Amino acid sequence: MTDNVSTHQAEEDARNEDILIYVNGKVVPKAQAMVSVYDSGFMLGDGVWEGIRLYNGRWTFLDEHIARLFEAAKAIDLAIGLTQEQVISAVLETQKANGMVTDAHARLMVTRGVKTRPFQHPKLSQRGPTMVIIMEHSRQKLPRPIRLATVPHMRGLPMTQDPKLNSHSKLNCILACIAAEKAGADEALMLDVHGFVNTTNACNFFIVRKGAVWTSTGDYCMNGITRQKVIDLCRANDIPVFERNFSLVETYSADEAFLTGTFGAQTPVGTLDGRVIGTGQLGPMTERIRGLYKTLVGA
Ligand SMILES: Cc1ncc(COP(=O)(O)O)c(C=O)c1O
Repeated sequence: MTDNVSTHQAEEDARNEDILIYVNGKVVPKAQAMVSVYDSGFMLGDGVWEGIRLYNGRWTFLDEHIARLFEAAKAIDLAIGLTQEQVISAVLETQKANGMVTDAHARLMVTRGVKTRPFQHPKLSQRGPTMVIIMEHSRQKLPRPIRLATVPHMRGLPMTQDPKLNSHSKLNCILACIAAEKAGADEALMLDVHGFVNTTNACNFFIVRKGAVWTSTGDYCMNGITRQKVIDLCRANDIPVFERNFSLVETYSADEAFLTGTFGAQTPVGTLDGRVIGTGQLGPMTERIRGLYKTLVGA
């Protein structure tokens, strides 16, 4: 066994064997939570999703996540068939059924539904959409610094698979992650089409240099909600923050690097391509931003 860590570090929780899962309006035990083999999500990765987190009775930035879900659904011409309020009600209903009050994470998924034939054309998706909410107990651990490796896979231009779509199909990112693991790392650092540092396969990426926080321009990565909150927190707390192009040269010699995402909040980066970043441990700026974020979300 390799000693892999990831940005999705949480304590093991046996209660997750007994959770109830929302499937198309019903909340059912995990063992009975099924979708069809003809489902567009299973067959083709044809769907969109959001990951959301519950801290002390409040789903963090829920309205923004639901708005992003609807934006993505519109982009792929998928009619969710519910209002944003009804989707929020489904989240709350699932939470209530599971008796969760804090430290939970949900993956809210909507696919184009069940197909009549096993082929790609969206017109064949006749029954649906399919909506599933997997809500798990998830208490964050203090994250260990993760190891990144740069890979050849990119989150690319908007006219291929727009990097701003939280699509069910994650194959591009999965290939990136596999390449990183084969290089002895935990996750992949993906460059943009110009070779500038962009994002990881599952999170947004930041570096710290001389007291300033840098992240990519945002043109080629997921418009992460946590990313934006970190930028806003920096601005509100007089921490210089720049959305800009930068290369691996500036990244290897950064004082700190960290990742952002709803699940892990801010995860420190220990090494990149075998180079130790800063001390290789959680750095003071990352720690400060983690603290500010924790206060913001009421964790
Ligand atoms: C590729 C990618 N980058 C970044 C993120 C983080 O986004 P957020 O901060 O909104 O959770 C996600 C999460 O869905 C993602 O899939």
